[in-house]
Amino acid sequence: MKAIVCTRYGPPEVLQPKEVEKPAPRRNEACIKIFATTVTASDCFVRGFTVPLLLRLPMGLFLGFGKPRNPILGMVLAGEVESVGQDIKSFKKGDQVYAFNIAHFGAYAEYTCWPESVIALKPSNVTYEEAAALPYGALLALHYLKKGNIHKGQKILVYGASGAVGTSAVQLARYFGAEVAGVCSTPNLELVKSLGAGRVIDYTRENDPGKGERYDLIFDAVGTRKSSTFKLQSKTALAPNGKYISVDDGSPKINNEGLIFLKELVEAGQLKPVIDRRYPLEQMAEAHRYVETGHKKGNVVITVGHNDPTGRS
Ligand SMILES: NC(=O)c1ccc[n+]([C@@H]2O[C@H](COP(=O)([O-])OP(=O)(O)OC[C@H]3O[C@@H](n4cnc5c(N)ncnc54)[C@H](OP(=O)(O)O)[C@@H]3O)[C@@H](O)[C@H]2O)c1
Repeated sequence: MKAIVCTRYGPPEVLQPKEVEKPAPRRNEACIKIFATTVTASDCFVRGFTVPLLLRLPMGLFLGFGKPRNPILGMVLAGEVESVGQDIKSFKKGDQVYAFNIAHFGAYAEYTCWPESVIALKPSNVTYEEAAALPYGALLALHYLKKGNIHKGQKILVYGASGAVGTSAVQLARYFGAEVAGVCSTPNLELVKSLGAGRVIDYTRENDPGKGERYDLIFDAVGTRKSSTFKLQSKTALAPNGKYISVDDGSPKINNEGLIFLKELVEAGQLKPVIDRRYPLEQMAEAHRYVETGHKKGNVVITVGHNDPTGRS
């Protein structure tokens, strides 16, 4: 099968198309024929091994030294179940699924085998490409909004409202009944507004997040490596007892309960995947180069060249 192999840690060019053996599922795994995957900010982080000195040893132990232990990256997929191991109860051949495997990778390929705990049926009203654009941003956003005890009537500021995590956070916060203000740069103001933000703030032009407004929750959805004067100021706009949460606080535990929840939201029209660009599998290095700019809108999807009989990919 075709796959994109990370030959060593380094720039996007280390990602090379290769013919590799098609994997076979273990007892607790489903083999999935992949129609779409995504390039996430985390994929670029792993490929480049852009790790602070202090974390190099633990990250090397976790990911592998010199190159990733599993050289086929990719944490997210949408596709069709091709075959299942003997212990798999929830899925059968032909099921249309989507999945997020934050710990193991393997989705930059035509097939991969993942455990049932990271897989769910895909929302029936979206394409494979749209389904692949959901799990990373939406599951991370859901984890952190719950950590912030998101609830009806709250005022929330989403900093970085136009990325994969941010576009999901705006929509999910609205779903939970919060009043949302979204922060992004000038070209993305309309997008963030269209996702349900009642107020949009341009961090390239404004330095005062408060302007009389106080937020019960501030969610930094861009992480510790990106900042601005606006972000540094934003803590001053927290209401008494308000909470400030960063997407880089700790490691979220991700499983298919979240995927099942997202499927319901998408089917009810409460959550829409946002896709910026699409690239074919063979142009993975180019896709990484774009994602690495740190300014994608929502998600970058990779289409995998199977001939999808349903025409939905
Ligand atoms: N805790 C964990 O385990 C975990 C796991 C995965 C990811 N993460 C974190 O999640 C972060 C976000 O992921 P993502 O996929 O949503 O990233 P992304 O899609 O690349 O985010 C890009 C967005 O960030 C905005 N941005 C860039 N520089 C900015 C700045 N200086 N100030 C404000 N906004 C800025 C951009 O908006 P504009 O284009 O409008 O500037 C863009 O829309 C990652 O970078 C990582 O730090 C954490």
